[in-house]
Amino acid sequence: MPDLFAPLPLAHGRPLPNRLALAPLTNRQSHADGTLSEAERTWLLRRARGGFGLTMTCASHVQPNGQGFGGQLAIHSDVFLDGLTSLATDLRETGTRSAVQLHHAGARADRAEVADPVSASELDGARALTTEEVQQLGADFVAAAVRAERAGFDGVEVHGAHGYVLTQFLSAETNRRTDAYGGSPENRARLLLEVLAGIRAACGPDLQLGLRLSVERFGLRTLEVRELVEELYRRAELDYLDLSLWDVTKHSVDEDAQRLPLLELFAELPRGDVRLGVAGKVRTPADAAAVLERGADLAFVGRAAILNAEFADLARDPAWEPEAGPVDAGYLAAQDVSPPFVDYLRSNFRGVVTP
Ligand SMILES: Cc1cc2nc3c(=O)[nH]c(=O)nc-3n(C[C@H](O)[C@H](O)[C@H](O)COP(=O)(O)O)c2cc1C
Repeated sequence: MPDLFAPLPLAHGRPLPNRLALAPLTNRQSHADGTLSEAERTWLLRRARGGFGLTMTCASHVQPNGQGFGGQLAIHSDVFLDGLTSLATDLRETGTRSAVQLHHAGARADRAEVADPVSASELDGARALTTEEVQQLGADFVAAAVRAERAGFDGVEVHGAHGYVLTQFLSAETNRRTDAYGGSPENRARLLLEVLAGIRAACGPDLQLGLRLSVERFGLRTLEVRELVEELYRRAELDYLDLSLWDVTKHSVDEDAQRLPLLELFAELPRGDVRLGVAGKVRTPADAAAVLERGADLAFVGRAAILNAEFADLARDPAWEPEAGPVDAGYLAAQDVSPPFVDYLRSNFRGVVTP
């Protein structure tokens, strides 16, 4: 069996101490103005101390109008540097590697927070960005990465998944632009590729750069995403790719991409020094070992890490049986999951909290 606890060298910076990563998890525990709260710090630090090799923040918005959720951690201004710096410092002391997930919700911005939602093209009441605004959006992703680096994080993960702004650009269904950022697959990927190249150019040689992608739905075609991934591997700017599969055993919904399960469909591509991580229903140490066996380098753990703060340390015991939920709010409080996070889980994800 592959060893979950073998360190994972990355192309930049220090190796991950092991192959278990805390998935990015929106938790709505930050202050209303986007500054870090004690609840958010405590929740993340507990998982870092619990042994995760990579501890990732929730999606953090890179522009004010990219806010997707109330209580979201923000990274769009130096105003947030103090909180981010203290979080990065605390995380570093645990021995984990740390990353901020860089996010812009685009047309999925929270209307209670954002008056002028924007997207690639008009979508759900959001207006299309001008070409200059697209370039500013790219620059603001880069500025946020520089900010994360200044704060002391080991890296950033660009959130290109789940139908948020970068997906809205990638998808031919939601991107109907006629400038250089729309049309061909190359043009629809231009903003994303500019963001990644911009981060590499603006940050130091040790910054660990990850990218989360969806590989189906949201108007995406799996085989087109696979071609994009081949290009990303050729460019070799990434330290890791994080495929959000929602179920690591599933096949694509696209009929022309069902030759192999999604994990294998991407793992078979030669990837050089770029590491491949996957997320989706990794609930037990055996599930995590299985994704490595199938060709991934890194297992991202979401709900099982909410339910089991010490998932990574406890996974060393083959006989350990993780809590699978649903659990009550008292159980979650003891796992350092505070009431706003419990409410968010209850209203958006079945099977974690008892109704
Ligand atoms: C409460 C919750 C919040 C999430 N927030 C984010 C997020 O901020 N960014 C992101 O890319 N994915 C987010 N996801 C998706 C997770 O990172 C993960 O990919 C997904 O939950 C599947 O993994 P799991 O089955 O281990 O939970 C979230 C999922 C949950 C359950």
